[in-house]
Amino acid sequence: MSIKYYAKISGTGMYVPDKILTNSDLEKIVDTTDEWIRTRTGMSERHLAADNQAASDLAYEATIKAIKAARIKTKDIDMIIVATISGDHPFPSTACILQQKLGLKDFPAFDVSAGCTGWIYAANIAKQYIETGVAKNILIVGVEILTKITNWTDRGTCILFGDGAGATIISRAGEKDISRFIDSELSADGTHYDLLIQNAGGSRMPATEETVKENLHTVYMEGNKIFKNAIRSMYSACDIVLKRNHLDVHSIDWLITHQANLRIIQALGKKMKIDEKKVIVNIEKYANTSSATIPMALDEAIRNKKIRHGDIVLMASFGAGLTSGSLLIRI
Ligand code: ACO
Repeated sequence: MSIKYYAKISGTGMYVPDKILTNSDLEKIVDTTDEWIRTRTGMSERHLAADNQAASDLAYEATIKAIKAARIKTKDIDMIIVATISGDHPFPSTACILQQKLGLKDFPAFDVSAGCTGWIYAANIAKQYIETGVAKNILIVGVEILTKITNWTDRGTCILFGDGAGATIISRAGEKDISRFIDSELSADGTHYDLLIQNAGGSRMPATEETVKENLHTVYMEGNKIFKNAIRSMYSACDIVLKRNHLDVHSIDWLITHQANLRIIQALGKKMKIDEKKVIVNIEKYANTSSATIPMALDEAIRNKKIRHGDIVLMASFGAGLTSGSLLIRI
């Protein structure tokens, strides 16, 4: 594909609900300890959505901040892509609900289901639409309320998730702009689709009294089988974009990976031989917010002036599917 225009990130925003659930709170719910959670995952606390908050509510709050940061008007948005596996409803898409909340219409709005890799998938799709000249300002949002589909009796999963939203405006870059998307790589390995799954509620297993009783509408995960795959697939996605662009790890200013487990982030950093000071980590405060972890970490690092204009940022994720992907970008 010949590139007509370049895409760039023009604004970011994030939102987390007020309520905080600490590791000590979890000690009262399941047989676990603060020490186990900290040492095995790096997590200390996570934010929980209120009963009356759905994914589009979190996405809206993050979006307002991203629009302000991008210095565009809401009406300048010409496409919305929401990455989520815990949207407001099985259908319609959360993107359409967000479009309605923003008072917009008459352009494409759709969801992407790629688990924790969802925001990377959405960014890759947005990149194509900007580069071909079809769109000028695309709103992409990674948003999850996984705590509403969590099995609170399963200590292997219920300690892991938090709720949040990260919104990003992807815009057409000006001719003199140094900010731009450099490259992106996506992949999936469907042979392992059943390692991380919400078993009931779809056409394979429609909702019945039994499925509710047996907790089949909640997240089922074989965590330790995913662990090794996560490191391997993120390493491969990073290696491909670096080699394709004749870059090595020293050319990278920052690495932002999916925040699923501190041990996974550290193992990947070690395998890539990247200086650990360049690896952005915020898992302690938010836990695993699935498709929202990367856009939230990106927003936080930009607002804290850690990531600055012109920096080269490599991002990588993996998740349900099993999906994986990377994004290489100059901010
Ligand atoms: N508290 C105390 N003990 C626990 C807990 C807990 N919360 N959870 C599990 N254990 C116990 C287990 O029962 C087991 O005990 P046993 O040895 O007596 O049988 C022991 O701890 C070890 O269990 P493992 O599952 O092997 O622990 P592991 O070190 O693998 O950590 C974890 C589990 C944190 C889930 C890890 O495997 C992981 O992070 N995996 C990757 C998860 C992931 O990234 N998923 C994809 C993204 S999520 C998405 O897409 C929605």
